[in-house]
Amino acid sequence: MDTIVILTGAGISAESGLGTFRDEGGLWAQHRIEDVATPEAFARNPTLVHQFYNARRRQARAAEPNAAHVALARLQANWPGQTLLVTQNVDGLHEKAGAEVLHMHGALAGALCAACDHRWDAPETMSETDTCPACDTSHTRPDIVWFGEMPYHMEHILEALHGCDLFVAIGTSGQVYPAAGFVEEARMAGAATVELNLRDSDMSHAFDTHIVGPASQTVPRWVEDMLSGK
Ligand code: OAD
Repeated sequence: MDTIVILTGAGISAESGLGTFRDEGGLWAQHRIEDVATPEAFARNPTLVHQFYNARRRQARAAEPNAAHVALARLQANWPGQTLLVTQNVDGLHEKAGAEVLHMHGALAGALCAACDHRWDAPETMSETDTCPACDTSHTRPDIVWFGEMPYHMEHILEALHGCDLFVAIGTSGQVYPAAGFVEEARMAGAATVELNLRDSDMSHAFDTHIVGPASQTVPRWVEDMLSGK
């Protein structure tokens, strides 16, 4: 087993105090996607969209990685083959734990100019009057991939999925494509597949192995087994 692709979702950060989207009382029960997470919403009411992401940025900056983030960083540092860690999460907890990660849905830590595509570190509070440091226009937005937009790094991720021996999905409901389709891509390439989740997800049927429980317990145990060759 030498090449591993790991996909994480909101469930891995739940025990760091960051709410998931679709669990009971989750973010999408409190806000409508159409109001805060589409390009149309931003065009209609940029103040509301900035407020939503400013609040999430504050929470994410105050949060600490949990044992699951730490374990994945340990796996990455010690696995003799290749690992690619891909997250749908926009918090920075994988990096804070010392891992290298691809943010397919963008990151709260980033600001993006919609006029010239320049990217820079987001201040804690963004507003629609902020100007781009490169072109000086005020078309700045959070560097987040909204519904209807193309996720980042897809070419790199698909190439890795087509060449991997093991695909692992952690804490994701399998409701949002293209990430929900990664398990099928990996299976078609002949990879073994493992799902770690608190409960069955919409994609559970597609995985060979299921490990059920809270990520802070299941992920460190799974990493330990991987590194000890069990
Ligand atoms: P969801 O909120 O859809 O799913 C969270 C998953 O985590 C569920 O399957 C839970 O069972 C699981 N879970 C919750 N707590 C857990 C724990 N302690 N340990 C293990 N698993 C746990 O979140 P995502 O699947 O990440 O996109 O959502 C995918 C995308 O939908 C997000 O990136 C976001 C959202 O709309 C955009 O905003 C573009």
